[in-house]
Amino acid sequence: FGYLNYLVERDRRFILDTLSNGLARLEYRGYDSAGLAVDGDKEDEIYVYKQVGKVAALKKLINEQSCDFTNTFISHCGMAHTRWATHGQPSQLNSHPHRSDAKNEFVIVHNGIITNYKEIKTLLEKKGFTFESDTDTECVAKLTKYIWDSQKSTTNLTFTDLVKLVAKELEGSFAFIFKSIHFPNEVVATRRGSPLLVGVKTAKKLKVDFVDVEFGTSEVPEALPIQETNHFLAADGGHPQLRRSQSRAFLSEDGLPQPIEYFLASDAAAIVEHTKRVLYLEDDDVAHITDGELHIHRLRRGAEGGATSRSIQTLEIELAEIMKGSFDHFMQKEIYEQPESVVNTMRGRVNFENHKVTLGGLRGFLPIMRRARRIVFIACGTSYHSCLATRGTFEELTEIPTQMDLASDFLDRRTPIFRDDVCIFVSQSGETADTILAMRYCLERGALTVGVTNTVGSSISRETHCGVHINAGPEIGVASTKAYTSQYIALVMMAIQLSDDRTSMTSRREEIIEGLFRLPGQIKEVLASDSSLQQLAAQTLSREKSLLIMGRGYQNATCLEGALKIKEISYMHSEGILAGELKHGPLALVDENMPVILIMTKDSLYPKVQSALQQVTARKGQPIIICNSGDTNLINDYKTIQVPQTADCLQGLVNIIPLQLLSYHLAVLQGVDVDFPRNLAKSVTVE
Ligand code: G6P
Repeated sequence: FGYLNYLVERDRRFILDTLSNGLARLEYRGYDSAGLAVDGDKEDEIYVYKQVGKVAALKKLINEQSCDFTNTFISHCGMAHTRWATHGQPSQLNSHPHRSDAKNEFVIVHNGIITNYKEIKTLLEKKGFTFESDTDTECVAKLTKYIWDSQKSTTNLTFTDLVKLVAKELEGSFAFIFKSIHFPNEVVATRRGSPLLVGVKTAKKLKVDFVDVEFGTSEVPEALPIQETNHFLAADGGHPQLRRSQSRAFLSEDGLPQPIEYFLASDAAAIVEHTKRVLYLEDDDVAHITDGELHIHRLRRGAEGGATSRSIQTLEIELAEIMKGSFDHFMQKEIYEQPESVVNTMRGRVNFENHKVTLGGLRGFLPIMRRARRIVFIACGTSYHSCLATRGTFEELTEIPTQMDLASDFLDRRTPIFRDDVCIFVSQSGETADTILAMRYCLERGALTVGVTNTVGSSISRETHCGVHINAGPEIGVASTKAYTSQYIALVMMAIQLSDDRTSMTSRREEIIEGLFRLPGQIKEVLASDSSLQQLAAQTLSREKSLLIMGRGYQNATCLEGALKIKEISYMHSEGILAGELKHGPLALVDENMPVILIMTKDSLYPKVQSALQQVTARKGQPIIICNSGDTNLINDYKTIQVPQTADCLQGLVNIIPLQLLSYHLAVLQGVDVDFPRNLAKSVTVE
């Protein structure tokens, strides 16, 4: 997170608060340590504060400092970082900002991984540099000083030029902010593979010019409207487009200097309380902010597949959406938001009267999708489970062979991909590194790429050919809940629309669409049983070491997702088991002491799940059964969690709710910081 003020008087207290509050909004991305850098009391001085633990610990440390909090700056830039350790343990020394030397000549914050850092470190050590941390990032701070020292006397190096020279040496992924005592009140930020956006706040009207010097050649096409490169961003049309220009600046309309504030962040959630006007940086963009002006340069010549213009977009999220409100945790709030978030996913897309689905973001691509030789779903974590949950629906409605892959494994296998494949990338954040790399792999091989994300402006929504925004609203809790149900619905809608030309499927489509209509009410019904689930967690499950969740068919995904929720946030070992596989191994785990949840809602596989139930009870297992309300066979004989019945392929949307609630209560009972489970991060932007 970065903050700059220009011609706006701010005291140090304000600057520190702005930085640490911005950081707190990003904390869900990593929370093992935090740090920030601001200008010191003397010129040529940068203060760096770092602390292990959450942002609150950093705030406490800062409050104990003896610096002058009232010192006022008319122009200032500061930056902050919250860390999810990749290289080196969580410690004060390893936390960011990292510095080039004891004088803090160059100070940087970094999100990503520099893969060639060892080579850089060896070279710099030979040149006499000594390192204080185990991080890849520190090498970049020191490399910056090395290049500066060796070039400054011979060339008139600008801050941007310097960062370009540094970035040229780097392999891996990064979003950086650079600050330096040699360039007071200037900041340079750049990205490749990790997200970064700039928020702009000013009372005056901006004249917006495209600012890329290296685009200013005749080879470069005129600026493209963003809709032409990113189809499912069509909803964001109408914002001022940047035109190609040599003026290289954001200026006020009258051309006079204006009071202005800039915010840099890896997620809009940290910016929205200050301004809704943002510019998403593309890979290899270098943003330079000085004297109130934002200049964007390119690390490499040419657009290299990226858009040839940048636009200021208006964020559609509201501050309330990223606040907990009356809930204890974001996860709890997000579970409870689902009756509305599923409606938002369907809004304007499902016509319940004539049973039609229209996904605007796929417009123009449906014929290619229908002709696909194969559909390949690629995702990670919960997003992968939403693909698994809807795979059967795709196969049934489209009859196109459908493959499923976890992004990391897909890449490890160097999976063969062809031009007539349709590859669907599902990602809440749109920034998961594994999924992005898989997407680029498929783009290179000429496949049609389709994005399904919750984050407008994310890498996946920008770089895929077409796609669907799930519109679930910001999801902050590390354990994904409302994004799962919205992804599930978005994918079901996609399958319905793809099969629109198949009359044999008409009545099936109608059945599913009617199920979608009833869904919000049914989710509410399950949420109403929260207190009995809380009791079940407290009385039956919270002291257990392990929990098996079994089901089959559409419920296989529910089992895996339920088990993932439980292990993620309560740290209880939990396994999702395909009931058909029970007899091939997992049954060995079952005895009178092993807690088992069996999903037995009514569908064509009900009789088969009944045999799984027999297999479990024959081993003295005492399953808790998720069944449909009114299933007296089960309700009379077993401990049950009852849920309303819907279309078989949508039942997973209802069945996951009690498992989300159970996992939440188990975590609370364990005393886990629900929104910040240990070792995890909301969006994993490193491979
Ligand atoms: C991380 C999160 C998971 C999430 C996965 C994929 O591991 O902790 O909750 O499911 O990334 O994230 P994405 O943003 O691509 O859906």
